[in-house]
Amino acid sequence: MCGIIGYVGGRPCRELILTGLERLEYRGYDSAGFALLAETGGVVEAVRAVGNLSQLRTAAGLNAGSSATSGVGHTRWATHGRVTTENAHPHTSADGSVLVVMNGIIENYVELRSELQDLGVVFRSDTDTEVIPQMIAREYRGDLAAAVREVLPRLGGHFAFVAAHVDEPDRLVASRRECPLVLGIGDGERFIASAIPAFLRETREVMLIEDDEVISVEAGSHTVWRGDLEIGPRPPQRVDWDEDAAEKGGYETFMLKEIHEQPAALWDTIGDRLKPDGSVELIGLGLDDAALARVERIHVVACGTSYHAGLVGRYLIEDWARVPVHVEVASEYRYRTCLAGPGDLVIGITQSGETADTLAAMRVARERGAHVVALTNIMGSQATRDSDGVLYTRAGLEIGVAATKTHTAQIMALSLFALKLGRLKWALTSAGALDLADELRRVPDVVEAYLESSAPEEVMATAATYADRAFFLYLGRHVGVPVCFEGALKLKEISYIPTEAYPAGEMKHGPIALLEEGSPVVVVATDGHVFDKVVSNIQEVRARGARVIAVATEGNEEIESHADEVLWAPRTPALLSPIAAVIPLQIFAYGLARSRGLNVDQPRNLAKTVTVE
Ligand code: AGP
Repeated sequence: MCGIIGYVGGRPCRELILTGLERLEYRGYDSAGFALLAETGGVVEAVRAVGNLSQLRTAAGLNAGSSATSGVGHTRWATHGRVTTENAHPHTSADGSVLVVMNGIIENYVELRSELQDLGVVFRSDTDTEVIPQMIAREYRGDLAAAVREVLPRLGGHFAFVAAHVDEPDRLVASRRECPLVLGIGDGERFIASAIPAFLRETREVMLIEDDEVISVEAGSHTVWRGDLEIGPRPPQRVDWDEDAAEKGGYETFMLKEIHEQPAALWDTIGDRLKPDGSVELIGLGLDDAALARVERIHVVACGTSYHAGLVGRYLIEDWARVPVHVEVASEYRYRTCLAGPGDLVIGITQSGETADTLAAMRVARERGAHVVALTNIMGSQATRDSDGVLYTRAGLEIGVAATKTHTAQIMALSLFALKLGRLKWALTSAGALDLADELRRVPDVVEAYLESSAPEEVMATAATYADRAFFLYLGRHVGVPVCFEGALKLKEISYIPTEAYPAGEMKHGPIALLEEGSPVVVVATDGHVFDKVVSNIQEVRARGARVIAVATEGNEEIESHADEVLWAPRTPALLSPIAAVIPLQIFAYGLARSRGLNVDQPRNLAKTVTVE
């Protein structure tokens, strides 16, 4: 959460910083700020505002520091201190000499703050961040990097920050611990930011900063220390990301664009991994085939939408490979007695690769000797560093806070993994594996045909008629359970309408009491061996006066006689239906939220990456 950026170079940087912050806005958007340094020293412009980047632009006007060639910026998702201008970044030392923007949490800030207050230091915000500029100012003896190196060991928690000093306007100093920070290397200029999109239009040469390194950045050079030891230069990596990924490309929102990018995300995730003979090559798991074949137990840890993908993965792996899978939300797993150990495989699913709870759960399992694989969408993310192996989704950059294409790509990656394991375990025959491989290859095509048909428009039109409803119940069975969980999460996070999601068989054990005349109930009723059972559940809710919105497989003629509305899903085999069935539910949530006039890309109180516990 929170996006940070710093620039030092030969160009006026006001617009570079503001544009960079706009590219990072998915990380947090409750307040923002920037500060520019004058070449001769001092701050030439500093603006902070509550609200998103457009409000910062309004507050800043067309102004002032437009010739400055160094500065820092921040977009915030509040953790410590309410959303106010005083708590927005950059934060400064009491004497105004040091400016800091930070992402993350300083866990021992209460202790540090009271130590400083005992020394007479006056604080102006309620944030944890403010201790950093205050401490740096006290350590400063004419060398900002030296002062940061003094302060760093005293900071607890996980964070990334960029510091500037008014007497050294041509230099920024930054550090990180378990929060992302990347250097962008241009011709006579340097960017330092939370994520590559912040400067992707300006340079593709990047260097990842490692935990507890301190980096001093000047226009034409950078220097890295670990402790007091200066370490040699690391060669930059070149990123080949599509810079349009950070643009809406003609769609009204990022979320809608990303819904429509699902066929590409699915194709790319399959890529060259699925071979003509039905075998699957997954390079990077950190386990060879013989070791993978010996795995007897799998744990999956994840949060939110990634957790729902993990629940789908359990059905696939248990069915195709006959290996027991335990799936748990990471925030619970990390605090339970961990029974994973040597010989077990733990898969941490996190599209961002940054979710604090998932990283912590992976760490717990790794300490116990389990082999930990990160299933993530972001190369070089923290999850890839905290694991023994990596399985990448190839969904491209996802900016909408509500995950869509990364979710279906996660399910595809898990399908590939399950197919591979099924073959290694001899749970699938080669003919069976070949059939499944063909079916997997067809999924992106049927999804593409669906998205190009009139179906999405029909789902949106149906959704609009439900825009005034106060509550939705979601039901499903078997693989329909994680689909209804995910559909309900999508609706609540972007429309703010309360939802409950239950396995349909559990309905009569409590949730049925919620129903009254006209209550909307979304039922995942795709084709499969539990279809008739789901129809019985539909009868039960209709008998209580509920209105049923069924998600059904294209071509199923029976469903229309049972449901008040049908949201069609493209036809796939039952076990792959979670990819097909979740898409109409994404569109349903989207249509409903848009007809309520809401900003689906930036829902209230949320952020794309949750780097705090
Ligand atoms: C998805 O729509 C949500 N924004 C959220 O639940 C998300 O899936 C969760 O925070 C996990 O994120 P991750 O995949 O980056 O770890």
